[in-house]
Amino acid sequence: MDIRQIFSNNKKWIAEKLKTDRDYFEKLCLDQNPDILYIGCSDSRVTAEELMGVQPGDVFVFRNIANMVSNTDLSAMSVINYAVSHLKVRHVVVCGHYHCGGVKAAMQQADLGLLNPWLRNIRDVYRLHKNTLNQIRDEEEKYKKLVELNVQEQCINVVKTPDVQKAFKERSLKVHGWVFDIQTGKLKDLEIDFDKILKDIMEIYRLE
Ligand code: CO
Repeated sequence: MDIRQIFSNNKKWIAEKLKTDRDYFEKLCLDQNPDILYIGCSDSRVTAEELMGVQPGDVFVFRNIANMVSNTDLSAMSVINYAVSHLKVRHVVVCGHYHCGGVKAAMQQADLGLLNPWLRNIRDVYRLHKNTLNQIRDEEEKYKKLVELNVQEQCINVVKTPDVQKAFKERSLKVHGWVFDIQTGKLKDLEIDFDKILKDIMEIYRLE
């Protein structure tokens, strides 16, 4: 791709937006009031806004390799704090995807240098669910299951944060685990039973 193309694309995009609303950008700069915090993978094929069909201003977005929510990651913790406690989003979504390179790398025995500590978080998910995963003979199916379990564990990590726990008490906030299937373009709700998970984990992680 010619990087200059981006700037002509941008000009076209501005013109399109102004065609439907002459004050589009003036309105956009007034404030942001997103309903959703989306935590997804950095994978170039898994866009956030485009696959959800939403517009600028609708979703607060955070992406990293394999959609991880690590409590030592200042960036992730700051995003959650800001989105939940200041922007007061009503939904937090962790969206993983099949064919995730990060998850695949974590399943292989290889020294990946700087990525080792990052991928170790996914290996921890594997260890937690080793019994379930080792029962799956088909490698492709096992890999898909790990993608799903990783989403579930990252949702749990979201729930462990004080901002989310406070919001649960004070107002309505929902956490969702989704998976995007690159092969079909479909977004799948894992329908994780958070009431049950919450009961299980709050016994240990309750902060207030
Ligand atoms: Co990925």
